[in-house]
Amino acid sequence: MNRTYRVGVIGATGMVGQRFVTLLDGHPLFTPVVLAASARSAGKPYREAVDGKWAMTSPIPAYATEMPVLDAEADAEKIAGMVDFVFCAVNMKKDAIKALEERYAKLEVPVVSNNSAHRETPDVPMIIPEINAQHLDIIPAQRARLGTTRGFIAVKSNCSLQSYVPLLHPLLRFGIRCAAVTTYQAISGAGKTFATMPEIVDNIIPYIGGEEQKSEEEPLKIWGSITDGRIVPAKGPVITSQCLRVPVSDGHTAAVFVSFEKKPSKEQILSAWKDFAGEPQALGLPSAPKQFIHYFEEDDRPQARLDRMTENGMAICAGRLREDVLFDYKFIGLSHNTLRGAAGGAVLLAELLAAKGYFD
Ligand SMILES: NC(=O)c1ccc[n+]([C@@H]2O[C@H](COP(=O)([O-])OP(=O)(O)OC[C@H]3O[C@@H](n4cnc5c(N)ncnc54)[C@H](OP(=O)(O)O)[C@@H]3O)[C@@H](O)[C@H]2O)c1
Repeated sequence: MNRTYRVGVIGATGMVGQRFVTLLDGHPLFTPVVLAASARSAGKPYREAVDGKWAMTSPIPAYATEMPVLDAEADAEKIAGMVDFVFCAVNMKKDAIKALEERYAKLEVPVVSNNSAHRETPDVPMIIPEINAQHLDIIPAQRARLGTTRGFIAVKSNCSLQSYVPLLHPLLRFGIRCAAVTTYQAISGAGKTFATMPEIVDNIIPYIGGEEQKSEEEPLKIWGSITDGRIVPAKGPVITSQCLRVPVSDGHTAAVFVSFEKKPSKEQILSAWKDFAGEPQALGLPSAPKQFIHYFEEDDRPQARLDRMTENGMAICAGRLREDVLFDYKFIGLSHNTLRGAAGGAVLLAELLAAKGYFD
């Protein structure tokens, strides 16, 4: 990888988009050249378009402040001529997102998406780079369907999954029979801050629309296999989930119970986590955490506020592994939902795509 790529951010004014704008500041491979959003923001300098809703703890990067925001829909052809690929994180109806992403792909622009609209599309790879990089092999089949030579769509999974699927994955060798997961999800996952979601203070909201279905079904696509130009979801392991919104700014926590066909020892689980690495580590991708899974020995860790930024928010944190009376084991997982779970995970996916030549 000795070249750089021009990138556009579609949805640059949103919560995830702001993360992209921040992560792309000084990125060694990707140069942001387009910031786009809805017609409401179009024509404004970026600083004005995010005025009053900048939610990052660091200031707006200098490169972005005066960049004029383009209209992701009306300016699509112009944008396609300016970029090598786009990141997409927009808040629109599912059909509109599908159409927007396919439009860019058909304009021969690879789309690296945070949106859920295409996650179920059988020839769209849904990637956690450490786990199922091999699913990128589906891209030629998708290009054939779309009639493109360069353009395609690749998506990342839902943010809730990142706090437990990476911890279950290295344990598949022990034959996971079933897992029960409760996620405690941060408000940034809804694009909110405490200022814009005051109802969450001193409260827990026991419903996040569509989240439990995604938490149970998306892992099966990630563990699926490619057959005849489609990703066929795995049949198991069965996962049941409950997803709660909690008063935390960033960082999704998961409480996980798991049972196995061949119950491993605690030491076997800990060493499976410690030794687990994927293509991002092997390729030395710029955003890859050196150690993917960090296990905390302390009884009161991992904690969202203390640990979400482990390895720049790209590592998965685990703790409290112990035997259970109903299941074989229980443990806690944590990941940063707008870094590993959203923009950071998408940047890592784009680095993987670049390393494998999909943007050339
Ligand atoms: N937040 C997370 O942790 C997280 C994690 C994983 C995935 N996601 C997904 O990422 C996407 C964005 O989430 P978010 O939290 O960043 O939402 P958000 O803060 O509400 O931002 C939405 C973005 O979409 C843009 N937009 C809305 N309508 C548009 C249109 N017609 N054309 C072009 N752009 C339009 C907005 O532009 P304006 O400012 O101009 O309205 C804004 O830039 C969603 O699909 C969400 O499910 C979010």
